[in-house]
Amino acid sequence: MTGLGAVAWPPAPIRTERLVLRESEARDREAFIEMFASPEVRTYLGGPRPRDELERAVPEVPGRRPGLFVTELDGAMIGMVALDRRDAERPGHVSPDAGEAELGYTFLPEAWGHGYAAEACTAALAWFAGARPGEPVVLCTQVANERSMRLAVKLGFTEVERFVEYGAEQWFGVTPGRGGRPPAHVR
Ligand SMILES: CC(C)(COP(=O)(O)OP(=O)(O)OC[C@H]1O[C@@H](n2cnc3c(N)ncnc32)[C@H](O)[C@@H]1OP(=O)(O)O)[C@@H](O)C(=O)NCCC(=O)NCCS
Repeated sequence: MTGLGAVAWPPAPIRTERLVLRESEARDREAFIEMFASPEVRTYLGGPRPRDELERAVPEVPGRRPGLFVTELDGAMIGMVALDRRDAERPGHVSPDAGEAELGYTFLPEAWGHGYAAEACTAALAWFAGARPGEPVVLCTQVANERSMRLAVKLGFTEVERFVEYGAEQWFGVTPGRGGRPPAHVR
């Protein structure tokens, strides 16, 4: 995926009931490495990466790009939510021009099961609706990733299609842009 592009960035930190969403900082580096190295987190994302390789490769301030929010609970990073542009070459599109905004989310296992991912994604989608009014957001997840599937539906994404990519069945959904016209297939 590529960067989100034309949005005012970074916004002021976004506060939800329990969380803060903000741009990444150097102090988040260990949590990023933990996420990339975790077999649990990476089950449906291509598997864990070796920690020593990550220690060398991960930049001093990881994940600093427009659309990527570190999610913080009580002052510590517990995960991240990102809005990026979906690669035109990949299957799964709702716009003839491709390059749709795509939501992604990754949380540390100890933060699962509390509704934090849903809370953070809702806030990030609300930010995007303000930054790019009316623009739909797409999401792609492995069908086997049950937690992710439940989250996608809870966030209001509806199925557009399923396809096989990376040797696994993928679910591709969309949520209509708020305040604007939904994409053709859901009108
Ligand atoms: C996908 C992922 C973010 C989902 O995390 P999650 O914590 O299950 O998602 P939610 O924030 O929606 O939380 C829902 C759970 O919190 C529970 N919960 C507890 N307190 C809650 C509250 N106050 N509000 C809402 N839900 C609450 C819900 O009952 C639900 O539990 P259940 O799944 O056991 O039924 C997480 O599994 C993850 O990071 N996976 C690895 C990365 C990944 O695969 N990403 C997908 C890429 S496409």
